[in-house]
Amino acid sequence: MTPTEELDLEVQRILQNRKYREMDIPESTVRDILEKALEETGKMKDARKQAKRKLHNIVAAYLGDPDYGKESNAISALFAGQPSPGQEKEYCRSILSTHASSRERLPYMDRFYPAIFSITGIPRVVQDLACALHPFSIPWMQLPVDIHYHAYDIHQPRVDLINQYFQARGLQPLAENRDVLIHPPDLICDVAFLFKELHRMEKRERGCSRQLCQQLHCRWLVVTLPATSLTGEHDLRTYHRQMVLDTVKGFPWKLVEAEVGNEMIFCLELHSETTVHNRIPML
Ligand SMILES: C[S@@+](CC[C@H](N)C(=O)[O-])C[C@H]1O[C@@H](n2cnc3c(N)ncnc32)[C@H](O)[C@@H]1O
Repeated sequence: MTPTEELDLEVQRILQNRKYREMDIPESTVRDILEKALEETGKMKDARKQAKRKLHNIVAAYLGDPDYGKESNAISALFAGQPSPGQEKEYCRSILSTHASSRERLPYMDRFYPAIFSITGIPRVVQDLACALHPFSIPWMQLPVDIHYHAYDIHQPRVDLINQYFQARGLQPLAENRDVLIHPPDLICDVAFLFKELHRMEKRERGCSRQLCQQLHCRWLVVTLPATSLTGEHDLRTYHRQMVLDTVKGFPWKLVEAEVGNEMIFCLELHSETTVHNRIPML
């Protein structure tokens, strides 16, 4: 077997794993991780081990998941009537509570988005990178009715459920199954969110977030990182702040910091308004 055939076979083996088959993660993600692991270790056996460890961290099933079939029925039932804003929020709160990243944010949702948008301004085009279930937070964001909300994740059942929700509430189904590190969106937007994922991306490949920042066409990139560990035992502020400072080191980007609840917020102005708007006309 040639090295290429061996790699192809190993990629398919990993994709056939029941867990990854159900999530329908992109083949390009598995290939990228395996190829880089092979470059580093030089042996397929070691590369396989490393790739599996990295994938486990990337898909992070341990952070929680809803029952997608049940939630799909719940969305249909909710929007079969005309839910009041209160009823929609109640539903979204329940689904957000199924994933640790969004569950932790629930107590301070009312303060979180005003803190961000007071720095970036209210966006008309949003990109939610590595979104998980975060788009179900839209009812708290107070976005304009003509908002274009692009959401990206590598977990197909999440993407499908988000699109179902978007359509039910009259938004375009702009959620996509896309690995944003391999295929960064080339779309122009006002604000991109990268919430609670930069530190995990850096574990996949050191320096990748620095590269991502250079490839995005957004005016503001809002990165958030947890201020403490999941258990609340360890203060991570110094460590996570340094990670962001390393990411932006040497670039002329403006950085505005805030903190709400357990979340450190870093607003990076990657492009001035004029630069973004001069490149391609806004939608
Ligand atoms: C920790 S959760 C994100 C939490 C969410 N941003 C929030 O703050 O509520 C990680 C999510 O990122 C997705 N993900 C990981 N790497 C990705 C990548 N390179 N491109 C797109 N999605 C990715 C995973 O599938 C998972 O749904």
